[in-house]
Amino acid sequence: MAGVIIKNLTKTFDIQGQKVKALAGINLAVEEGSFVTVVGKSGCGKTTLLRVLCGLEEKTGGTLSFVNRANNFLTAEQVRISIVFQEPRLMPWLTVQENMGFSLLNHVEKTVVRERVSRYLQILGLTKFKDAYPEQISGGMAQRVALGRTLCYEPDLILMDEPLGALDAFNRQRLQRELLQIFQENKKTVIFVTHDVDEAILLGNKIVALEKGIVLQEIPVELPYPRNMKDKNFFTLREELLSLLLTD
Ligand SMILES: Nc1ncnc2c1ncn2[C@@H]1O[C@H](COP(=O)(O)OP(=O)(O)OP(=O)(O)O)[C@@H](O)[C@H]1O
Ligand SMILES: [Mg+2]
Repeated sequence: MAGVIIKNLTKTFDIQGQKVKALAGINLAVEEGSFVTVVGKSGCGKTTLLRVLCGLEEKTGGTLSFVNRANNFLTAEQVRISIVFQEPRLMPWLTVQENMGFSLLNHVEKTVVRERVSRYLQILGLTKFKDAYPEQISGGMAQRVALGRTLCYEPDLILMDEPLGALDAFNRQRLQRELLQIFQENKKTVIFVTHDVDEAILLGNKIVALEKGIVLQEIPVELPYPRNMKDKNFFTLREELLSLLLTD
């Protein structure tokens, strides 16, 4: 597993000669084994932050350091990072279980792949559908497969970009519970982007509010899991976050 220390991270895009500062100097420490939720208005740089973290986008400036709990620095090659997008992006010609194990096939022994795939199929309630193709399953199930694919890879750092955004309320709640259970059992390091303030409070042990490419505020959440939206402390935190994000 790995944590990450982000210092003065910047990313500037050039859109037809016009410079857009998507990240304007992000400073943030994500501890190993923590679940950090990132909230902020559309266009504040959430996706860009994740894409820079996993190397899909090159940073313009600043530093990214990966560290473990013993405070040893790790090279980018030593850290396995995986990203889950808003849509599942499954391969239509592969079955559910093949999609989940695909990225491991050339790196891990076949028996280990089989064992991991069957473990996560079970955890995510997908065993019955292991031989189905993506077009034969629902959107919520497809997103669970995408999550299973990431978990099978056993990354040190999981990045999630509104992974539950396209789901109905029922599936969303179910996956939130499953995610929390997996997180608590395996103590993964997760950075989870969401538009939804309630989701940010339900899941995160730290909430990071972004605005215009910088960290507006970091809010530690010490409420025990599973959290109750009717709880007074939950309500107070929601009000605090909303007033923070709704002011210009
Ligand atoms: N590939 C790109 N090329 C040019 N500009 C980009 C690119 N990706 C993002 N941007 C710009 O960077 C800024 C931040 O975009 P980003 O996608 O990170 O926002 P976001 O917080 O994820 O928004 P949303 O909540 O709508 O997903 C925006 O102004 C966007 O136009
Ligand atoms: Mg985005």
